[in-house]
Amino acid sequence: MRDFMVLNDIDNSTIMSLINKAIKYKQSNTAPYLNGKLISNIFLENSTRTKLSFEVAERRAGMQVINFEHKNSTIEKGETLYDTAKTLEAIGMSALVIRHFEDNFYNEFIGRLNIPIINAGDGKGNHPSQSLLDLMTIYEEFGCFEGIKIVILGDILHSRVANSNADIMSRLGMQVCFASPEYWQVKGYDFVNIDDAVCDADVVMLFRIQNERHLKVYDKGNYLIKYGLSMDRYKRMKPGSIIMHPSPFNRGVEIDDALIEINNSRIFKQMYNGVYARLAILDYVLGEGA
Ligand code: CP
Repeated sequence: MRDFMVLNDIDNSTIMSLINKAIKYKQSNTAPYLNGKLISNIFLENSTRTKLSFEVAERRAGMQVINFEHKNSTIEKGETLYDTAKTLEAIGMSALVIRHFEDNFYNEFIGRLNIPIINAGDGKGNHPSQSLLDLMTIYEEFGCFEGIKIVILGDILHSRVANSNADIMSRLGMQVCFASPEYWQVKGYDFVNIDDAVCDADVVMLFRIQNERHLKVYDKGNYLIKYGLSMDRYKRMKPGSIIMHPSPFNRGVEIDDALIEINNSRIFKQMYNGVYARLAILDYVLGEGA
């Protein structure tokens, strides 16, 4: 049985197989056939893209989707996530897709469930399906990872995508650096001058200001000019470079409103690719593997 909890657990060649499989599904408009298996999506934190693109992928793969309504469930009476998962296993689910507000929620499942868990985002921890679709988008654009330069801008401290991407992108040979206000920096990451990095990057990746995770209010008024992708910085990006953002975005805060749908923005392509990346993940845990 294979879970899909963090990319750190998965070797580079398996990740490349997942990317290639996602691209194959996209190019051939095909999907794995997962034989009417039951799957439940448990989202204890809000989501639009991840939840719905998993659901689209599950339906394309011929699965029966049971969305878990946590407000009407016994979680509201205090039942634990583990007991909920064991219950869903007992009544016939073949896999669970879980988003949870706590970092590493999946640790309590390791070795205790007989069905795979797909991590759809854990607190500030990891977001491996987002990382896979980000990698797929970069690979489609450049045809390789080795030597591709990415600068990641924004609220790094509170971003589970930054955490997932920093590790796997470095592991695949990309040159990864970060720029953000000092109060959102993370020890051990390579923080650089934003203006130098944006001019030099193949990929400028922005992260959302995660207001819901902040204890202090930040200076929103000056944020775009000081730390975001303003029009001025955009004009200094090098030819052939692209803009990415996992979304949702704060228009006019971390990115100038006019750049969201500009020619070299891949923001909506990331969402489109998300369905195919998630088809590859479903096949990895329930079908043929990588
Ligand atoms: N990128 C992402 O995880 O979006 P959602 O929160 O809408 O799922």
